[in-house]
Amino acid sequence: MISRRAFIGQLAGAAAGVSVLNPLAWGSEASSDEVAGKEGMIVRSRRFLDLEMPTEFFNSWITPVPHFFVRNHMHEPSMLDAKEWRLTVGGEVRKPLTLGFVDLEKFGIHAVTNTLECAGNGRRFQQPHVPGVQWERGAVGTARFIGPRLRDLLEVAGVETNGKHVMFRGLDEIPGKVPAFVRSIPIEKAMDADTLIATRMNGALLTRHHGFPARTLVPGWIGAASCKWLTEIKVLDKEFEGNFMKPGYRMPKQPILAGGELNPDDTYPITALGVKSIIATPIEGSSLKLRAIQIHGAAWAGEGKVAHVEVSTDSGATWRLASFGAQQSRYAWRLWDYVWKAPSAGIHTIMSRATDDRGRTQPQTTAWNPGGYLYNAIDQVTIHVVA
Ligand code: MTE
Repeated sequence: MISRRAFIGQLAGAAAGVSVLNPLAWGSEASSDEVAGKEGMIVRSRRFLDLEMPTEFFNSWITPVPHFFVRNHMHEPSMLDAKEWRLTVGGEVRKPLTLGFVDLEKFGIHAVTNTLECAGNGRRFQQPHVPGVQWERGAVGTARFIGPRLRDLLEVAGVETNGKHVMFRGLDEIPGKVPAFVRSIPIEKAMDADTLIATRMNGALLTRHHGFPARTLVPGWIGAASCKWLTEIKVLDKEFEGNFMKPGYRMPKQPILAGGELNPDDTYPITALGVKSIIATPIEGSSLKLRAIQIHGAAWAGEGKVAHVEVSTDSGATWRLASFGAQQSRYAWRLWDYVWKAPSAGIHTIMSRATDDRGRTQPQTTAWNPGGYLYNAIDQVTIHVVA
């Protein structure tokens, strides 16, 4: 017997030309350590594990860890023993620190419910096509992260007056001669009360896929800011210079022609997420009976607050407000619903559009950029309503 979820997963994967993790599709591979606990996820890359959440899992305000997307630029560290692990804090500080896992816990803990989204989420929808992991909607998830505040560590270390950026290094296993995944964030965001060294996710210790034993959590910012398998924090007098800061994860300062070249000097580093909503159900291409149709999705706005989500069921001619689920938290998405009485059988296009408290609204189309970053155009699905 094949479960309904596994079956839908196989269908969704087949449609998108990707594989879906489930024991039936992958046999022994699915139970290998590499993908353990991630059944049902869409595999975007197996070499460096990249897993996308299918839209059916947008049904939960807190994304269970097994459904939380995974984005790795290189191999996950194979051996990590929390007893052996050390975190150093150095650079432009008066008192460099070396901390073990138990030392970290002594700093006191703080919890932040955060929607983490990969800057490349939605890349597949950008036209013209750009290379990179072809994420659709699900390189995003919401979790409750717990750990000490980064600023508490920095205050004990004593940041020098010339400390302007804070660099993070993880323990990824680097294949060949590729540059390490090292990035930095400005000191102001590092000192924010909600920026964490997270050791727990949804009440349990971090899993290996999500950065065990500790990761940074930079709320409201692109996922790349939140370094996994953290081992080094270094205060710098300027932004870190390296592949994943430049040319990686940057946007053009001025709009550029779609498909055009971009000079890295005409770019700025990506920080916070934009305003965005996605339609989780119904899914693209589905056939539904002519009766009340439940439209469901999620909306988020990085450091902003989602003010409202509108739904159009007539290809954008008219818009109506969706209703929000009760759960909310400063950096977390809102789940939303809209019940639609389809007027007739046939092909219908449903759209969703979020607006935040800063007056930002999802655009009709996003400005093209060669990295395929921050895709947040109005979402749409086309469905078939049958009598
Ligand atoms: N940290 C390290 N050390 N190595 C990585 O490849 N990927 C980053 C970030 N932190 C990455 C990393 C990116 S691009 C994203 S979107 C998030 O981790 C994804 O976090 P997750 O895999 O826990 O969902």
